[in-house]
Amino acid sequence: MSGHGSPRPMTSRKCGPLNGEAHVPGDKSISHRSMILGALSVGETHVTGLLEGSDVLDTAKAMQAFGATVERQGEGEWTIQGVGVGGFAEPEQVIDCGNAGTGVRLIMGAMATSPITATFTGDASLRSRPMGRITDPLALFGAESHGRSGGRLPLTLVGACDPVPVVYTTPVPSAQVKSAVLLAALNAPGETVVIEKEATRDHTERMLAGFGAKITTEVTDEGRVITLKGQPELTGQTIVVPRDPSSAAFPVVAALLVEGSEVLVPNIGQNPTRNGLFTTLVEMGADITFENERIEGGEPVADLRVKYGPLKGIEVPPARAASMIDEYPILSVLAATAEGTTVMRGVKELRVKESDRIDAMARGLEACGVSIEEDVDTFIVHGMGKVPGGAVCKTHLDHRIAMSFMCLGMASEKPVGIDDAGAIETSFPDFLPLMERLGASFRKDNA
Ligand code: S3P
Repeated sequence: MSGHGSPRPMTSRKCGPLNGEAHVPGDKSISHRSMILGALSVGETHVTGLLEGSDVLDTAKAMQAFGATVERQGEGEWTIQGVGVGGFAEPEQVIDCGNAGTGVRLIMGAMATSPITATFTGDASLRSRPMGRITDPLALFGAESHGRSGGRLPLTLVGACDPVPVVYTTPVPSAQVKSAVLLAALNAPGETVVIEKEATRDHTERMLAGFGAKITTEVTDEGRVITLKGQPELTGQTIVVPRDPSSAAFPVVAALLVEGSEVLVPNIGQNPTRNGLFTTLVEMGADITFENERIEGGEPVADLRVKYGPLKGIEVPPARAASMIDEYPILSVLAATAEGTTVMRGVKELRVKESDRIDAMARGLEACGVSIEEDVDTFIVHGMGKVPGGAVCKTHLDHRIAMSFMCLGMASEKPVGIDDAGAIETSFPDFLPLMERLGASFRKDNA
């Protein structure tokens, strides 16, 4: 599990053009949901293309602890024999979700309306993250929680014996909050309604419908109104997980950073609630073509062909934030090498991710000679064409911060180091060799 081993410092130095194909791992959001919905179904769920990063493996172990049978059949191929809605058993041990906010928050939702008790913990990053945003709506169903100050982990959740349906407006744009409420609603009688003012990733809604739940989404003046009828029988499904657009962001941006590069990134999820980065890159002037656009496993996918070219800074509309929330760290790296200023507003959710991502990127970019501005909800990067580099950046157990600075080093004048590459395992275990195969020049350092 990340965060428990000794730090693995690394350095990335300027490299020649990147070329080739980048096969990035399966979508992290869909992989977590495949495990959880498989466990809540009757019969077998068969998954291919699953992300085998530590985040998802921790969710798989948790599903076993709640009574499901989860088996690895081959590379990325897993089966889950579910226990059905309301069938979770009480785990005998503490559930350790490692680094995974999505894992712990969705699992808390999934168990909150069963008459069982479970205690959750995670690594230092996860133990510092806010859980009140989940336990508050779960309390409306009748669940009780006992966490540390600020509702942080370790936390014990006592599921409702007699759950009631709820109507809940999410106070922050968060697919994790929305999904926790929808998963809790599965074992409550009657209809639960979740209202979100801004659209967030909709994998839970799509997948619940695929597993047989009665779920509708209506777009109104208030936002998206999602209605789920409780106590359905979910049936095991065959799931083909598309490759993760958030992981694709790294080789895509690396190809845009390094002069002369051309990279093909096949089979990337293009769900409109996830693809804000690609829209932004095109607005910056990126040469990206979306080839073979098609639907696979209920999700739109395309092969991305990316060619290096000069880019300009832009103002990213705040309304796009939810659809690219995990991509701001790597966008800020690209912004540093573009001409002109990139303004990212409406991004305060970045402060409660695996790390405070505005702070982590701001400090590392400054150390590499980039001029930035920030306030609580805004991040501004002044592009400078060539970035000096020459610093070791702190990663705070955050995979996306670690990968972002490794990409920066590929195009900066002096090498860029990171204090720990360990967290990369959570979402993109093959990141380092994959980027090296494209042409990156990485080196392991002594801790
Ligand atoms: C996720 C939702 C997002 C995202 C996270 C994955 C999900 O978090 O940052 O990496 O799978 O639902 P929030 O819902 O907190 O924005």
